[in-house]
Amino acid sequence: MMMRLTQQTLSSQDPEFQKEGGNARSAMMEMYAYFQNIIADRRSQPNGDLSSVIANARVNGEHLSDRDVFGYFNIIATAGHDTTSYSLTGGLLGLLENPEQMAKLRADPALLPLAVEEILRWTTPVKHFCRTAVEDSEIAGKQVKAGDHLLLSYPSASFDETVYEDPFKFRVDRRPNRHLAFGTGPHVCLGQYLARFELISFFRELLARIEHIELAGTPRIVEGSFVGGVKYLPVRYRMR
Ligand code: HEM
Repeated sequence: MMMRLTQQTLSSQDPEFQKEGGNARSAMMEMYAYFQNIIADRRSQPNGDLSSVIANARVNGEHLSDRDVFGYFNIIATAGHDTTSYSLTGGLLGLLENPEQMAKLRADPALLPLAVEEILRWTTPVKHFCRTAVEDSEIAGKQVKAGDHLLLSYPSASFDETVYEDPFKFRVDRRPNRHLAFGTGPHVCLGQYLARFELISFFRELLARIEHIELAGTPRIVEGSFVGGVKYLPVRYRMR
C-alpha cells in the first residue's frame, strides 16, 4: 500500500501508477487518513516507537500541528522506496552499458563505496525541490529577490561541467565526487547512510554471486519529473 501511495504521490504523471485510479491528490488524502489513525493511536497509547515520538513531539510545550506531524510521517514513509530502487536499477544499467567499469569494479571490490557515490551522481533519483529566497542575493550573476521561488535541479548539479571532469562519463573510481543527490544544508537527506548501506550491500552481493549479467530488453523509465529513474530493467544472468 505504501509503495502504491508513494508512486502515486511522487511519480503521478506515470500512466502505470495512475492505472489503479489514483493521482497525487487522492494518494495524499489516503495517506493522510491512514496516518491520522496512527497519530490518534500513538497519542492515546504511546509505545516508544518512532510513530509515538513524532505523534507526541512538543515544541515549547505545544503539540506540533497535525499538518506538521503528517509531514514527518509522509516524508519518512515515502522517501526511501523509489529513490533507492531507481539508484539500484540505474546503477546496474550504468555498469551494463560500461562493461570496462563493471570489470574494474569486479577486479577491485574495495572500489565499491566510490562506485556507489558515482551511481548516486549518475542516477540522481530526486530531480528537484523548491526553495524560497529569504533575502535578496546574487547567484552566478543572476539577481534573486527575497520571496522568489527557486527550482533546485539536482541532476543539473550532478552533471555540472564546471565541477566534474567528463561529467557524462560513468567512472566507478571517480574522485573527488561531491555530488548533491542527497541535497545539502539543514534538509539534507536523513536516510543517506541507510541508502548507501543498501546500495553497497546490493552490489557487493550481486557481483559476488553472479558470473555474468547482460541486458535482455529495453529499460523503461518512469514518466514523471519529481522522483524518477529506470522502473524496468530486463536482465539475463548466470550464477556462479
Ligand atoms: C538513493 C536514495 C535516496 C536519495 C537519492 C534521496 C534524496 C533526498 C533528497 C534530494 C532530499 C532533499 C534534500 C533537500 O531538501 O535539501 C531528501 C530528503 C529526505 N530523505 Fe532522502 N533520499 C534517498 C533515500 C532515503 C531513505 C532510504 C530515507 C529513509 C527513510 C530517506 C529519508 C529522507 C528524509 C526523512 C528527508 C527529509 C529531510 C528533511 O527535510 O530534513 N531518504 N532525500
